[in-house]
Amino acid sequence: MSTTPATAYPPLATGAGVDVDVAVIGGGIAGLSTAWELARAGRSVAVLEAGRIAEGVSGRTTAKVTALHGLVYARLRRTRGPEGARLYARSQQGAVERVAEVARLLDVDCELERRTAYTYVTEAAGRFAVREEVNAAEQAGLETTFTERTGLPFRVEAAVRLPGQAQFHPRKYLLALAEDLVARGGAVFEHTRVTRLHEGTPCRLGAENGAVVTARDVVVATHAPVFDRALLFSRLSPRRELVVTGAIPDGQDPGGMFLTEEGTRRSVRTAPLSDGRRLLIVTGESFAPGAADVEARFGRLAAWAREHFPGLEPGVRWATQDNDPTDTVPLIGPFHPRARHTWVATGFGGWGMSGGVAAGMLLAELIGGHRPPWAELYDPRRLWSTVREAPAFLRHQAGVARHFVADRLRPPGAEHVAGIAPGTGEVVRIDGRHCAVYRDEHGTAHALSARCTHLGCLVAFNAAERSWDCPCHGSRFATDGSVLQGPAVRPLEERDAGE
Ligand SMILES: Cc1cc2nc3c(=O)[nH]c(=O)nc-3n(C[C@H](O)[C@H](O)[C@H](O)COP(=O)(O)OP(=O)(O)OC[C@H]3O[C@@H](n4cnc5c(N)ncnc54)[C@H](O)[C@@H]3O)c2cc1C
Ligand code: FES
Repeated sequence: MSTTPATAYPPLATGAGVDVDVAVIGGGIAGLSTAWELARAGRSVAVLEAGRIAEGVSGRTTAKVTALHGLVYARLRRTRGPEGARLYARSQQGAVERVAEVARLLDVDCELERRTAYTYVTEAAGRFAVREEVNAAEQAGLETTFTERTGLPFRVEAAVRLPGQAQFHPRKYLLALAEDLVARGGAVFEHTRVTRLHEGTPCRLGAENGAVVTARDVVVATHAPVFDRALLFSRLSPRRELVVTGAIPDGQDPGGMFLTEEGTRRSVRTAPLSDGRRLLIVTGESFAPGAADVEARFGRLAAWAREHFPGLEPGVRWATQDNDPTDTVPLIGPFHPRARHTWVATGFGGWGMSGGVAAGMLLAELIGGHRPPWAELYDPRRLWSTVREAPAFLRHQAGVARHFVADRLRPPGAEHVAGIAPGTGEVVRIDGRHCAVYRDEHGTAHALSARCTHLGCLVAFNAAERSWDCPCHGSRFATDGSVLQGPAVRPLEERDAGE
């Protein structure tokens, strides 16, 4: 955010009407890639973004662009067969190459650097999984090898190694994509939240301010899908993750892109800084939104970074989240079983840089009437693989049910509004109703309904980010109740704090 200009695309004016071939809802990497691919294929396109483009998850990501996704290939070989794993590898590696090609085509300096990707383990118990992954990924067509040397400043037990991958500055890439989209006759509307969808011929979209868009096709690329008639949210688990950064001397750059799925995960990459040093970007401490102790998790992650990179000069930190599909593969394709002209791209499972670009390529093909060989793999209407991975699905549902019931029975964090300290928030009962109460630094209490406007789970206060987070499907709300993250689309209702 701090090394790119802010965007200033206009909102779609109140009462205005626009008619396009394709309307894309959401200006993250999935939406912008889809819109750009379609514009390039000669379609008229409008991107409708609730806030500013490339400021959602895609603006806060770590932006490794790789087909090596942890230990995904062994899992896919088991659940989707060797052919499924091969199609996944082909489409994801195709996306890596597409990013390089588009950056060249648009002549954009998006700090694209070719890097080797590693998935490593530090415990002997993980060696077998690494060997299995090397084998599965190789069978899927990737040039993976087994190694014990990674360039990281600590010993690893074993690692999967995949050369020829990439990393980039996501906003520099995405802002260039949007500019080129507009140069090709496409439109980008910011501060245009879509609140209504009528599926028909054509489809009609309504924005919060009353503006209307008609389009033959509609792509829902809102991260957590809005207008989710197929209940896709029940097949997605939100995972929030923390990011800490800091400058390190160039000589300490480990020179690759690294990930371990051990414990609460650790991901490492670096990016160039203007003074010749490198910006270390460390990610980890995955947790379900709504979990407590976010500040302590930040502390653990920062301590890990300092321990392994002693020259680290602490920089900015942030948090963001992605949705893990219960059967590993993103959901890209027709929105629901009866959909004819509505499409979705979601569930990137922490790999939406390649996944979002792959989504753009796939959706542009599908909308153009073509069906690439991996269309079925990603088809959101698939059910059999969800059934095969039923334990993950059931675990997620059990977790949601637990939150729905147990959170209501749990005693409130503070007995009374008066017990809430400035700068903090608690769920308390006011007149028998669960209320989310935040007391600002000036001492004023702001009360909201604690019932998430998606499906009614109780939100919890995230002290590190000062937000109300829903543990069920990951919606997040600001302390004034406005939506920060879907699937919720409506703000938390205001309540009287009674002070
Ligand atoms: C900590 C972390 C690190 C990651 N690192 C990597 C990585 O190294 N490599 C990788 O491949 N992936 C990574 N990912 C995953 C990747 O960042 C995401 O999968 C990807 O950014 C998701 O893109 P998106 O377009 O779906 O969502 P977003 O970028 O969030 O875009 C969705 C947009 O839709 C808009 N929107 C929502 N509702 C509406 C509405 N009603 N009307 C209009 N607009 C709306 C939002 O404002 C938002 O701008 C990481 C994820 C996390 C959490
Ligand atoms: S996000 Fe689904 S109930 Fe809150």
